[in-house]
Amino acid sequence: MSTVREEIQTLKKEKNAVILAHYYVPDEVQECADYIGDSFYLSKKAKETDADIIVFAGVAFMGESAKILNPDKKVLLPDPTADCAMAHMADVETVHRMRKAYEDLAVVCYINSTAELKTCSDVCVTSANAVKVVKALPNKRIFFIPDRHLGSYVADQVPEKEVILNDGYCPVHHLITVDQVKKAKEAHPQAEFYVHPECSREVVELADYVGSTSGIIARVKDSNAREFLIGTEMGVTYELRKQNPDKCFYPVQDCQCCADMKKVTLEKVLDCLKNESNEVLISDEIRKKADKALEKMLELAK
Ligand code: 13P
Ligand code: SF4
Repeated sequence: MSTVREEIQTLKKEKNAVILAHYYVPDEVQECADYIGDSFYLSKKAKETDADIIVFAGVAFMGESAKILNPDKKVLLPDPTADCAMAHMADVETVHRMRKAYEDLAVVCYINSTAELKTCSDVCVTSANAVKVVKALPNKRIFFIPDRHLGSYVADQVPEKEVILNDGYCPVHHLITVDQVKKAKEAHPQAEFYVHPECSREVVELADYVGSTSGIIARVKDSNAREFLIGTEMGVTYELRKQNPDKCFYPVQDCQCCADMKKVTLEKVLDCLKNESNEVLISDEIRKKADKALEKMLELAK
């Protein structure tokens, strides 16, 4: 009898499907993926692919973005309840209010957001390209939604702009505190500290490197250090360990785990591929509006 992994491989070929996986999903799901990456890399792969089916091993906004960018493909989510809490932490009414209050405002929307939020935004960003995209905008005043931490990181990197923040945050990164970082540094004095910009400004200030998941992975490879304190979701250590078997990775605290990303199991990947279930469906009206913001990101981040 064939294993779940073998069945997935057979069905993938039969159906001309591709599996895209984010660095935060469980190790065994990353193992069976065709492409593993951060949100930026995966959105480019979703747009480029000539597969008929995209299985997106990640949370809902990732599958939605793939569908928006490549509407002729069938996009399947292994678990449609796997959602990013931060994606909902802004609202369309506030965006409209801000546009009325400020002339020449650019609304910059982190890709970790609902399709609806993307429809009322000028451009999307990911953590890998936010600074570059904001710098490239002609507008001086930016309303950054939904993540206040990524927004304040961008504001610090682009001081020539006025960045208005929205009160959203990622529950996983927000939980990492300065006290915990100091304790972890004491426990691992030789370790370099690398963080994702979804952490608070105070935590980011203690870091040796700040970047997206792909940025962290690239920087660890280049570093001569042997030990690293990781300030992001610990799923990223699957790739870190694979690329650097001689280096050690420690979390800052115990619960650096995105429960929604961990809902994506191998069995669910197989199930959605077999039954072509949990298809991402987006109305044409929403898709076209949201697509403008995503396409603009791809253009400005080139
Ligand atoms: P990346 O942009 O590094 O993929 O991060 C996505 C994310 O969800 C971080 O919490
Ligand atoms: Fe969303 Fe945070 Fe999970 Fe990333 S880690 S998907 S930002 S809840």
